[in-house]
Amino acid sequence: MPTLKINESACIKDGLCATICPMQIITPPKGGIPPEPKPEFSKWCINCGHCVAICPTGALSHSSMDASQCTMADKKQIPPPDQFEHMVKYRRSTRRFKNKMPDHATIDRAIRMASYAPSGHNLQSVNWQVFTKRDDINRLAGMATDWMRHMLREMPNAPHAPVLKEVTQAWDQEKDLVLHHAPCLIIVHSRIQTGTEPTDAAIALAYFDLAALSLGLGCCWAGLFMMAAKLWEPLQQYLELPKGHQLHGAMMTGYPKFEFQRLPVRKQPIIQWRP
Ligand SMILES: Cc1cc2nc3c(=O)[nH]c(=O)nc-3n(C[C@H](O)[C@H](O)[C@H](O)COP(=O)(O)O)c2cc1C
Ligand code: SF4
Repeated sequence: MPTLKINESACIKDGLCATICPMQIITPPKGGIPPEPKPEFSKWCINCGHCVAICPTGALSHSSMDASQCTMADKKQIPPPDQFEHMVKYRRSTRRFKNKMPDHATIDRAIRMASYAPSGHNLQSVNWQVFTKRDDINRLAGMATDWMRHMLREMPNAPHAPVLKEVTQAWDQEKDLVLHHAPCLIIVHSRIQTGTEPTDAAIALAYFDLAALSLGLGCCWAGLFMMAAKLWEPLQQYLELPKGHQLHGAMMTGYPKFEFQRLPVRKQPIIQWRP
């Protein structure tokens, strides 16, 4: 059950914890009395840590995190807009990988960065599975291709049939257009509790994509693989997701074989200003 611990001698009673709390479950300090949890505190607290993070003196700790555990926030480390803009524009989908497996520590670091992505109700429900064996990844791509062959037999005139045909023909020539011979495949899954989990997982993967870039890796969203994994039972069985979990996304990663020299042009965003 979540609780607050307030160091009364350090508390300057500025009430910031009460103001910032998204659930408004902290009674502000009054007449020398420090802030305290409201009666509904334990029912509504989402363990977001904003109360701990906002306190200028570190007087407040939460049962889920002690103030001393939290790294000090350093605004100077936020990349300036030009740098950040270049980074997000620099990111490309990587489909040609070096024959080099990223080490576990690098992938682990990118996942830990991605775990700071926002999540509905701060549930942080995303589960990660990392495939690092070439045979496994080849097998997964092969099973996705089996599904495509099945679809071509069942629905030869479906709108996406030409793509599936191309992919299966390439597979027959030992060219993997599903997972692009990536050395590593990441999948994200979770149990659905509130409904935001698929969005949470997509955001976490998008964070992973950028985190990986900062570590010298390249990524590509595995959309074709996901189409198959959503529908093809043998593939679902191979993934061995925990009972009740849904697959939300998959991403290939590895070291890019080539370096892009330019930032390609993208469409202008469609923005409707509503005055
Ligand atoms: C899909 C999604 C839906 C969210 N919906 C709300 C919302 O309706 N209201 C709100 O105050 N915060 C909302 N949030 C923000 C989360 O509560 C917040 O990300 C989480 O508490 C963690 O806090 P942080 O973003 O400061 O790390 C949402 C986040 C996500 C990813
Ligand atoms: S952890 Fe978040 S929701 Fe819980 S009391 Fe602190 S600020 Fe409020």
